[in-house]
Amino acid sequence: MAVALDVLKVVARKFNFTYDYTEALVGGAAIDATGKALPEETVSVCRANDAILFGSVGGPKWESLPPNEQPERGALLPLRKIFGLYANLRPAICYKELIESSPIKSALIPDGFDLLVLRELTGGIYFGQPKGTTVGADGERAVDTLVYTTREIERITHTAFQAARHRRRHVTLIDKANVLESSLLWRKIFKQLAAQYADVATAFMYVDNAAMQVLRNPAQFDVMLCENMFGDILSDEVAAATGSLGLLPSASLAEGTFGLYEPSGGSAPDIAGRGIANPIAQILSVALMLEHSFGKLDAANALRAAVRKVIASGHRTADIVTPGCIKVNTRQMGEAIAGEV
Ligand code: IPM
Ligand code: MG
Repeated sequence: MAVALDVLKVVARKFNFTYDYTEALVGGAAIDATGKALPEETVSVCRANDAILFGSVGGPKWESLPPNEQPERGALLPLRKIFGLYANLRPAICYKELIESSPIKSALIPDGFDLLVLRELTGGIYFGQPKGTTVGADGERAVDTLVYTTREIERITHTAFQAARHRRRHVTLIDKANVLESSLLWRKIFKQLAAQYADVATAFMYVDNAAMQVLRNPAQFDVMLCENMFGDILSDEVAAATGSLGLLPSASLAEGTFGLYEPSGGSAPDIAGRGIANPIAQILSVALMLEHSFGKLDAANALRAAVRKVIASGHRTADIVTPGCIKVNTRQMGEAIAGEV
């Protein structure tokens, strides 16, 4: 985060804008300081601002807490709900230069790939009611409910088509329409709205097949539109397919311009404090923030271009280093990117 903020400073100077920010505690650090993963104070700070630039939360120290008090569930899920962050964008690029880091054979992805997992984030089985555990004659009974309404599906479907217009104009709806009632509703609404976006091509794919296709031919996808849990699962698979989680940013958007921006990976406690983490995911999260919350597409694109150039010129943090490359630490990677900007 420190490096990403340094890079933001340079982008702001280059593109001639000013900004202000307030730091607030969340996750493990917040638990240590206040006993809560998401203190009220943090929520008020977020409310008073235009966007949330989120670091990574969690680690082994807090893993024995009850699930609802842990950094991830205790902070992320409530933040999504409180701020109505319904659209989760997880762009995944496998850069040509990094194909050898991907577990997928290079013959299957000769040009790498560039896709967007668009995940519905505030509905479905994560939040549906009823939810809970009761005890009866047959022992315990645990219930989760997968529910979606027309309105919830419509708004994320519009997001998908609009995102596709800035990309390769193709949306695949990922569902389980051969089994789930909710998937039938997704298909119905998706087809209705597709008529308004005649310039965007569409496809339908069952989620089990999609899990296989990501390993066989990820380049076929442009925008993958998913309900909440399918998107959770597929986005991890897609991330692994790119070769490094350390490169992937994400945006969680509300209606309007408010959003939360965070790296797709976790806090990597195994390398904490050594200054070797890849800062690119956090830096590209800044790019998403500039684009979606502040309408600064030029600055966002300049940042993305700088990242591409630095990768092309062979700079590599430990997670993606290969023989013959320039091995850099977190700070040096940030400086190289700032230099390109
Ligand atoms: C994610 C995470 C979260 C989720 C967990 C930590 C609750 O896996 O953001 O993908 O399932 O949404
Ligand atoms: Mg996940």
